[in-house]
Amino acid sequence: MHIISKNEKETQEIGRKVAQKINKGSVISLRGSLGAGKTVFAKGFAKELGIEEAIVSPTFTLVQEYDGKLKMYHLDLYRLSGEDEFESMGGEDFLYSDGVALIEWSEKIEDMLPDDTIYINITINDDLSRDIEIKGLEL
Ligand SMILES: Nc1ncnc2c1ncn2[C@@H]1O[C@H](COP(=O)(O)OP(=O)(O)OP(=O)(O)O)[C@@H](O)[C@H]1O
Ligand SMILES: [Mg+2]
Repeated sequence: MHIISKNEKETQEIGRKVAQKINKGSVISLRGSLGAGKTVFAKGFAKELGIEEAIVSPTFTLVQEYDGKLKMYHLDLYRLSGEDEFESMGGEDFLYSDGVALIEWSEKIEDMLPDDTIYINITINDDLSRDIEIKGLEL
């Protein structure tokens, strides 16, 4: 499914709708170029889970944990060297967890992603709107 988002608010709204449909243990891959809107999506998603804390990019920690209706693990793997580093940080715990994992730059661990991963691919259109593709989940 593809949805066009005209602004930040609409992308957050899509994040919210996805959060309404997920289960404990879900893994959500967030892909798109720098500034596409992956973190904006994560903000909307977090709101739906009742997380009040500000969602910031977990740039220096690779993972940020939040407590809501479900635990939310927000990963940003932009600076990850590869799957070896992911393994040594105990990353698999987030792929098979008691909460939900949102993973920016999940390309870095492509082969480790569970089969039932939900894929959100964000593309910036020429008019700067966003094309949000959702795979593995019906809204
Ligand atoms: N339709 C839209 N949806 C989401 N963000 C938008 C949209 N239009 C403009 N923006 C802007 O684009 C930026 C998206 O930033 P965001 O941090 O979410 O990107 P990102 O994909 O997480 O990038 P990075 O790879 O650097 O983490 C924000 O400044 C936001 O205001
Ligand atoms: Mg981001």
